[in-house]
Amino acid sequence: MKNRDEILAGAGVNTRLAHAGNDPADYHGFVNPPVVHASTVLFPNAATMEKRAQKYTYGTRGTPTTDALCAAIDELEGSAGTILVPSGLAAVTVPFLAFLSAGDHALIVDSVYHPTRHFCDTMLKRLGVSVEYYDPAIGAGIEALIRPNTRLVHTEAPGSNTFEMQDIPAIAAAAHKHGAVVSMDNTWATPLYFRPLDFGVDISIHAATKYPAGHSDVLFGTVSANAAHWEQLHETQITLGTCASPDDAYQVLRGLRTMGVRLERHQESALELARWLEGVDDVSRVLHPALPSFPGHALWKRDFKGASGIFSIVLKGRAPERYKAKAHAFLDALGIFGLGYSWGGFECLAVHVGLGDRRVAKGPEEGPVLRLQIGLEDVKDIKADIERGLAAARAV
Ligand SMILES: Cc1ncc(COP(=O)(O)O)c(C=O)c1O
Repeated sequence: MKNRDEILAGAGVNTRLAHAGNDPADYHGFVNPPVVHASTVLFPNAATMEKRAQKYTYGTRGTPTTDALCAAIDELEGSAGTILVPSGLAAVTVPFLAFLSAGDHALIVDSVYHPTRHFCDTMLKRLGVSVEYYDPAIGAGIEALIRPNTRLVHTEAPGSNTFEMQDIPAIAAAAHKHGAVVSMDNTWATPLYFRPLDFGVDISIHAATKYPAGHSDVLFGTVSANAAHWEQLHETQITLGTCASPDDAYQVLRGLRTMGVRLERHQESALELARWLEGVDDVSRVLHPALPSFPGHALWKRDFKGASGIFSIVLKGRAPERYKAKAHAFLDALGIFGLGYSWGGFECLAVHVGLGDRRVAKGPEEGPVLRLQIGLEDVKDIKADIERGLAAARAV
């Protein structure tokens, strides 16, 4: 029989998701890996202990459970190694701490996830790192912002809440010319629809809380590095001790098995609704990279294999002082959508987006922006719920 790894390497994505990570033959044939709860690992004798000459040495440094998930993620990302951390936010902050030192300069996309900005403006600043926010549409033009001490260029595409696309290969090429590390928060696309390392990114970041876990019950992050950056990332993880729990690692691996089929459904429903909303009178704009009308659509089409289930709409606003009341009327009329942060779970969620933190990429100003996470519910029911929201907003 052909080697299992060889067969899987050439298989379709859902086949790989069903089998990536652990090999059942390594654990008595059980399909899933064991959930190993561990701090202590015993050594057979003092010499082995002194040299740490065995595969597992301490709970923070990996277990069969975390190894199974890391192997699955490496397979999907094409990475040299992956660390597992306790939240998506930690998946951003740990690599930033790995690659930035006092006196360094970091370029951060202005459409970044807000808590990433908060980390930069507070902790990085306190540690002596200077941070500059750049326009997501900058492309190769980022070279003009690179200084001799620029050490990190952080990307996130599509951007949080407003979904601006970025020319990742052009940005990575410019950054690498000057020796900067390129990181990307790729949570929206997952490695199924975009593989950052194939496009020149060094560090691929995921809030696995979203689609990989998929059920709104786990907080988790993964960070995957190419060979040149793996050692430093791994060393930082060990130094900080930011390890993830075995139960959560297990749940994320479990979630990966169905992520492909879930994403297909999220994608299909979200696109159907986004297309419908484009023609609705109360809506001024739909911010979804897979719509030809969206400014970043050409980049999405060039580089991405699909779209996930979250996008935003801009309502026609009338006067700015009524934006908030309109948005609240929309949200309060919803019965299927929950009002909640996060996304990537099985259920619809909506939130009124605040863009007050933006410095360069200001975002739409003609009306309130509402972010919609489209869940796995039936589209006709989701549509009826959005219609309820639109009718309530219209009355304001
Ligand atoms: C783009 C992006 N990155 C990172 C995170 C952080 O994930 P977590 O909630 O697991 O900290 C989020 C959460 O909403 C996100 O939207």
